[in-house]
Amino acid sequence: MTNTNQTLGEFIIENQASFKYTSGELSRLINSLRLAAKVVNHEVNKAGLVDIIGAAGDQNVQGEDQQKLDVYANDAFIRTLTKRNIVCGIASEEEDDFISINSQDKNHQNKYVVLIDPLDGSSNIDVNVSVGTIFSVYRRVTPVGTPVTIDDFLQKGNKQVAAGYIVYGTSTMIVYTTGHGVNGFTLNPAIGTFYMSHPNMQFPEDGNIYSVNEGNYIRFPQGIKDYIKYCQEEKEDRPYTSRYIGSLVSDFHRNMIKGGIYMYPESSKYPTGKLRLLYECNPMAFLAEQASGKASDGYQRIMDIQPTELHQRVPFICGSRNMVDKAEEFMAKAKES
Ligand code: AHG
Ligand code: MN
Ligand code: MN
Repeated sequence: MTNTNQTLGEFIIENQASFKYTSGELSRLINSLRLAAKVVNHEVNKAGLVDIIGAAGDQNVQGEDQQKLDVYANDAFIRTLTKRNIVCGIASEEEDDFISINSQDKNHQNKYVVLIDPLDGSSNIDVNVSVGTIFSVYRRVTPVGTPVTIDDFLQKGNKQVAAGYIVYGTSTMIVYTTGHGVNGFTLNPAIGTFYMSHPNMQFPEDGNIYSVNEGNYIRFPQGIKDYIKYCQEEKEDRPYTSRYIGSLVSDFHRNMIKGGIYMYPESSKYPTGKLRLLYECNPMAFLAEQASGKASDGYQRIMDIQPTELHQRVPFICGSRNMVDKAEEFMAKAKES
């Protein structure tokens, strides 16, 4: 039963029994992400003040200089997860290598690894536009009791046990899945509590929004160029509307609610695309599929790609199922000719 008075904390407890392995570890993990989200939210909301504070020569209460927000967000998530002894490893966009976590008392007993884009859409911070955080969770594949290895992180997206994002927008939301649909919770900032606001989120099968950085049009593969022209054609339900924020999280969030397609294709500048498979595309793909949408690299399912590197990039097409099908059709046609 979904209940919009329900808090995220209550929802996590109530749904713990539906997890495959019910040790409570995954619940604790989601709980600590919820906590870090609130910490980062607080800092993001002050973003416009940083310069003012800086100009006055101030430091924060701990006497530290202000940090860049993506570094701050990275530290906040890593600190929260590490201090609570919940995961055995973390990989982040902001870290060259993965981090292996061993606590004295637990001796590598934790089962989950987390991959994270701590601040997505960072170029939007200085201009007061929505940014986000993306996370992806796997069970480790190496034996418990040993340090994690790269193999624990290079798993296909279809092995994810949870994924989600936080959007720091006009309101702050956490949207996540553990493989039983997608639910969204909105933060009441006055009391610091997330409430269920978007139960069982679903991509409309069709949509009329396309989101792509069209400034790169000339560099796109022919299939994408053709699909963009299709979106702009004068037909019964077209041209579609173009909306591009430049924060994947925010573009995805809007498209999931309204119906639409997001594309970051390969180009002459980014021959394998710009977005990262492990902490941007896979978690968004998992959410999309759990919400009846679809995610593809133009030819194949994102979640079936075998990762070979931590910071690997892939072309990304994601959104309403019929729209992604159509874009794939154009890609296949262009490949043939
Ligand atoms: P990040 O801020 O984590 O580096 O990610 C930015 C990504 C994504 O959020 C966004 O959709 C895309 O880069 C925007 O890229 P362009 O500016 O090239 O359109
Ligand atoms: Mn990003
Ligand atoms: Mn980032």
